[in-house]
Amino acid sequence: MTIHDIVLMGNPVLLRKAEPYGPDALEGARTLAEEMIETMLAAPGIGLAAPQIGVSRRLIVFRVPPHRAGDGEEVPITVLVNPEVTPVGEAVAEDWEGCLSIPGLRGLVSRPAAIRYRGLALDGTLVEAEATGMHARVVQHEVDHLDGVLYPMRMQDLSKFGFAEALAAASAEEAA
Ligand code: NI
Repeated sequence: MTIHDIVLMGNPVLLRKAEPYGPDALEGARTLAEEMIETMLAAPGIGLAAPQIGVSRRLIVFRVPPHRAGDGEEVPITVLVNPEVTPVGEAVAEDWEGCLSIPGLRGLVSRPAAIRYRGLALDGTLVEAEATGMHARVVQHEVDHLDGVLYPMRMQDLSKFGFAEALAAASAEEAA
């Protein structure tokens, strides 16, 4: 088992546009993907992009476990090579996000509510899917990492950015 250290915001690798895989290079992606899954599960997180372990390649892993699915669907651990995202429709959804490269913090981020995405599985087959809810959000968040974009760069209102612990305390107080 190889669990990697996760690169933190401030490291320039997180701001770089990652390199795509050529058709003959997928074998090299397999070990990397396995290690990324182990690292994601150990963190624990629901998604990880290769630049977050210091590898500037277009590879992401993600999942939506039952406790994060909300009203939406659960998604098993998925690996995507060279993923591409296309928004479907005009609707925008707002929700809280965190990032393993920005530990302890959360921010409210607006993103297209529904997307279509495609990429390659490790065996080279084309994966195509439509997604909404947390599924759409995690895929967009991870693909952003491949383009050097971190979620605070997507935020419109930085007053909705803070430490998870303080935000939870504030919302508990509001509910009381
Ligand atoms: Ni992230």
